[in-house]
Amino acid sequence: MADSEADLLANIRVQGEVPRHIAIIMDGNGRWARERHMPRPFGHRSGVKAVRAAVEGCLEVGVEWLSLFAFSQENWQRPMTEVSALMSLLEEFIAREADDLHRQGVRVRVFGDLERLSGPAAAAISRVVRSTESGTRLGLNLFISYGGRAELVRAARLLAEDVAAGRLVPDAITEEAFRARLFTADCPDPDLLIRTSGERRLSNFLLWQVAYAELYISNVLWPDFGCTALYEAIRDFQGRDRRFGRVGT
Ligand code: FPP
Repeated sequence: MADSEADLLANIRVQGEVPRHIAIIMDGNGRWARERHMPRPFGHRSGVKAVRAAVEGCLEVGVEWLSLFAFSQENWQRPMTEVSALMSLLEEFIAREADDLHRQGVRVRVFGDLERLSGPAAAAISRVVRSTESGTRLGLNLFISYGGRAELVRAARLLAEDVAAGRLVPDAITEEAFRARLFTADCPDPDLLIRTSGERRLSNFLLWQVAYAELYISNVLWPDFGCTALYEAIRDFQGRDRRFGRVGT
């Protein structure tokens, strides 16, 4: 019989080691809606509820960073109606959750090519980033209009600008210098990367940062991925032997 949420939580606490940073590719909203003969935005709306559950689960077990892939650069190519629905949901989420997130000590940041967002979406993002700035319990990174390759190109461009301006010599381009120019410069790399809905791809998410992340593929569709599924992923992580390229103990 599958463990209950309470058992999983107790076992997580007994084992003790919790991933500091979890990244999630939230996938399967469309299929979840199709199974219910509903339009895709219905799946996205339920997906937002699962975002709340993931935040609660991370707060409960003491995860310090949660990075969510909410909208990729490629997602701009989806039908206009779906893109608009996703943007409206983002605005709604911020309007509804900003105060609670602040009260819970969650600091929200949003990374990606935000220039492409509409005025209202960009304004909502600035608002929640500002109003949650003082949060210290959980860093919630939302990746919107984001692509991993674009992030790497951006970091390379920032380095090139520093070299061209005489602020940096090429020999000083180290991994540390590169990492310092990524969106996530001040977070540890994800320890655990979860992808829902059974797909086994990185889909251009955090290409640099997941170099040593443990991968966990869940067959659960994102709208159904509640605290129980999150705790199962953490329990699985706790059983992994992380070697970072070295030999085992
Ligand atoms: C992938 O499912 C999911 C997305 C493209 C969007 C994820 C967005 C949310 C969960 C809601 C908005 C987020 C926040 C932070 C408020 P899919 O549509 O590709 O599903 P499919 O593969 O089954 O078609």
